Amino acid sequence: MTTLQEIARQIDAILGDDTREIASAQSTAALEEIRLRVLGKKGRLSLLMRTMKDVPSDERPAAGKVANEAKEAVLRAIEERRAQLREQEIAHAVRTEGVDVTMPGIRPRLGALHPITRVRRRIEDIFLAMGFRIELGPDIEDEHHNFDALNFPPEHPARDMHDTLYLATDLLLRTHTSPVQIHTMKKYAPPLAVIAPGKCYRSDAADATHSPMFHQVEGFMVDTNIRFSDLKGVLGEFVHSMFGYDTPYRLRPSFFPFTEPSAEVDILFRRRRADGQVVEKWLEILGSGMIHPNVLRNCDIDPEKYTGFAFGMGIERIAMLRYGINSMYSFFENDVRFLAQFV
Ligand code: PHE
Repeated sequence: MTTLQEIARQIDAILGDDTREIASAQSTAALEEIRLRVLGKKGRLSLLMRTMKDVPSDERPAAGKVANEAKEAVLRAIEERRAQLREQEIAHAVRTEGVDVTMPGIRPRLGALHPITRVRRRIEDIFLAMGFRIELGPDIEDEHHNFDALNFPPEHPARDMHDTLYLATDLLLRTHTSPVQIHTMKKYAPPLAVIAPGKCYRSDAADATHSPMFHQVEGFMVDTNIRFSDLKGVLGEFVHSMFGYDTPYRLRPSFFPFTEPSAEVDILFRRRRADGQVVEKWLEILGSGMIHPNVLRNCDIDPEKYTGFAFGMGIERIAMLRYGINSMYSFFENDVRFLAQFV
């Protein structure tokens, strides 16, 4: 017959021997061995628990309590020692395996502005510095603002379904930023010096130099006595600020329905080839001209009193020249290897 006394005696022995051993265990592996020896299926304490049924029933609750407390004490001792050993093992690994705690961590990947946004802001800064302000117009226009008010004749090819993305009868995605001229001149009286950046759309298949969506910056100035020389001065300042003061530029006669006379601006683009030879080429960067009297009249501005100039440039084209990018695809593919170069 096992008695409470007998149980208590055995437990004292277990606690005495085993907790001493636990406290001096030299590795987590040794600790695990002790744990199994005491608390494992055939462990000393587990076997003792099994004799509990032989304890007289009046003593059994007390015996059970003693045994459970002993089990918890052993587990506590194991956990304490395990934490100590873990710390020692880490400290040892740091010393012997040469972990370099001064090594930099993993750098977080930072986002950056898209090259089109960077160039747009640069263009804006140049014109803001010359006293222009920014106006924005809607991407969805009607034929009046995109074509008629800009003096496009009814049979102009740009109005063709194949060139323009129509949403419904008389609703289309603007093909240029020039309709912002109309919105602004109807809303405000001269003097005006405005730039209008934004998205434009054309029914073009995407290739290296075309995209159905692209960006333009429109600009225009209207006042008494605005002359062609003002246009040349403003655009010359833009070319020099954007591409450097040693960049030659030229104005070449052109045609737009909404300007008369009209001119395209070319810059002399210099590039050093892989073989070291410098190649020069005139490249068109924008369209411009004196605002057609019909356009002023369409906005209730008297062309006998006021004159003005206007220009429009593609941001992608400026960005391609500035950064030496040769495909329009690059801007919209969202390849991080490309985009990460503009930080
Ligand atoms: N809107 C013209 C285009 O998209 C550019 C332009 C704007 C030309 C203003 C002259 C004046 O090609």
